[in-house]
Amino acid sequence: MGRLKKILIPSLGLVLAFWFYSARDTFKPEMLRGKRVIVTGASTGIGEQMAYHLARMGSHVLLTARTEARLQNVVRRCLELGAASARFVSGTMEDTAFAQHVVREAQAVLGGLDMLILNHVGASYFGFFDGDVEHVRKLLEINFLSYVAMTTSALPMLKESEGSIVVVSSMAGKVGFPFTVPYSATKFALDGFFSSLRQEFAIQSINVSITLCILGFIDTERAVRAAAEVLAERPAPRDECALEILKGAALRRRELYYRYSSTRLPLLLRDCAAELLDYLVRSRYRLPATPGAPRPQH
Ligand SMILES: NC(=O)c1ccc[n+]([C@@H]2O[C@H](COP(=O)([O-])OP(=O)(O)OC[C@H]3O[C@@H](n4cnc5c(N)ncnc54)[C@H](OP(=O)(O)O)[C@@H]3O)[C@@H](O)[C@H]2O)c1
Repeated sequence: MGRLKKILIPSLGLVLAFWFYSARDTFKPEMLRGKRVIVTGASTGIGEQMAYHLARMGSHVLLTARTEARLQNVVRRCLELGAASARFVSGTMEDTAFAQHVVREAQAVLGGLDMLILNHVGASYFGFFDGDVEHVRKLLEINFLSYVAMTTSALPMLKESEGSIVVVSSMAGKVGFPFTVPYSATKFALDGFFSSLRQEFAIQSINVSITLCILGFIDTERAVRAAAEVLAERPAPRDECALEILKGAALRRRELYYRYSSTRLPLLLRDCAAELLDYLVRSRYRLPATPGAPRPQH
């Protein structure tokens, strides 16, 4: 009985703490009404879906990506869905000056910023690491350094509004993944930068939240084209994923896992059974007899 008490009471405490922690806030779409939001990589995929959800909630959206024709369509649809305002700036995030220009545009047309959603991702390949260092450098520019540049430029406005930074990352940014070595490296870099920055915000009492989003396999065209044949799992829907990211951001969550079952739960193994986790990651792939030639990811 004594032993049972020793186990039962702490376990009950843990369950209650978990329940209290997870139920402490509930999301309401009004939280994002009238908010001024930048969404990068908004011409397709998860970014496009986030733009539509924000529009339905009545936010002001400033969208960016390279392809002007697609952005025009997304902006038009956002206005139909009820966005308080919708605009775009097109250009490439290979260029740090462009990343800074997007933030200045928010200052000029929105008069400030409440949420910076960093979501864009550069093209890479799906296959064994091919030794191309220049490709790694270019991908770091797009997937990492432009995130840093936009955050740095946006920080004065975000401090003013006590706003939020949302960083869209991946399971491949938490645990080593085969066949996406350069991509995985850029996502790990995001975790290092933004988790450290969050610590400094806490020390300096800067009330800007940072939500790191750890995503599994999502049914965007790019991802399905690259991985559907080799990944032995069904992709999750991009519109639901987009909504979960926005909920996590509005609630100022530290990290967001989608889907929880295929991201957070396996990651629990990382510290206690790393080899097993590595094995589980590898076992997700249906590999051909000789998985040699890299294939384009975009
Ligand atoms: N889909 C998944 O399974 C999955 C899994 C884990 C994490 N994620 C993460 O989720 C985020 C969105 O992924 P997604 O699947 O929605 O990707 P996606 O459909 O390929 O969209 C990528 C976006 O980035 C833009 N982009 C690409 N290169 C760019 C550049 N050089 N400069 C500026 N913008 C550029 C693209 O537009 P343009 O081509 O018009 O520039 C597009 O709007 C990414 O950060 C990705 O790593 C996705």
